Amino acid sequence: MKTARILAIALLAACFSASVLADPRTLNDAIYTEAQADNGEGLYKTHCLACHDKKYFRPVLKRWNGQPLGVFYTVMVTSMPESNPGALSLDEYSDILAYILSLSRYPSGEEELASAMESLHEITIANRK
Ligand code: HEC
Repeated sequence: MKTARILAIALLAACFSASVLADPRTLNDAIYTEAQADNGEGLYKTHCLACHDKKYFRPVLKRWNGQPLGVFYTVMVTSMPESNPGALSLDEYSDILAYILSLSRYPSGEEELASAMESLHEITIANRK
C-alpha cells in the first residue's frame, strides 16, 4: 500500500514535469555542493538511516534512470520519513538529497542543489558515468 501511494505521487509529479522543457543536465553535471552533502549526512543519520542503510539508494537511483530529479524529490518530501512525512524544511531535504547523491559518488561542484521544483525538474536522473 505504501509503495502504491508513493508511486501515485511520483506519477502525478511526472505528469506535471512533462510540461517542462527538457534540459540536458543530469546527475553527472556536478549539481550539488560538498557542503550540502556534509550537512545532509547528519540529517540523514537522524532521519533516514534507521530505515535506509547507505547502500539503499544506489539501486533505487538506477531504477529512476531517465526520470526528473524533481519527481524523486517530491516523493521524498511528501512521503519521507515514513513515520513523519514532510517533517523537514525543503532546504534540509535538498541537503539530504545531496548526501544521497554523494553516496552514489556523483560529482559535486560549485553549484548548490536548489529546493525549487522548477529547477529540480530540469535535472534528469542518469546512471553515473
Ligand atoms: C520508518 C522507516 C523510514 C524512514 C525513517 C524513512 N523511510 Fe524512506 N521509505 C520507507 C519505506 C517503507 C519505503 C517504501 C519502499 C521500501 O520498502 O523500501 C521508503 C521509500 C523511500 C523512497 C522511494 C524509494 C523508491 O524505491 O523509489 C525514498 C526516495 C525515500 N524513502 C527517502 C527517504 C528519506 C530521504 C528519508 C529521511 C528523510 C527516509 N526515506 C526515511 C521507510 C522509511
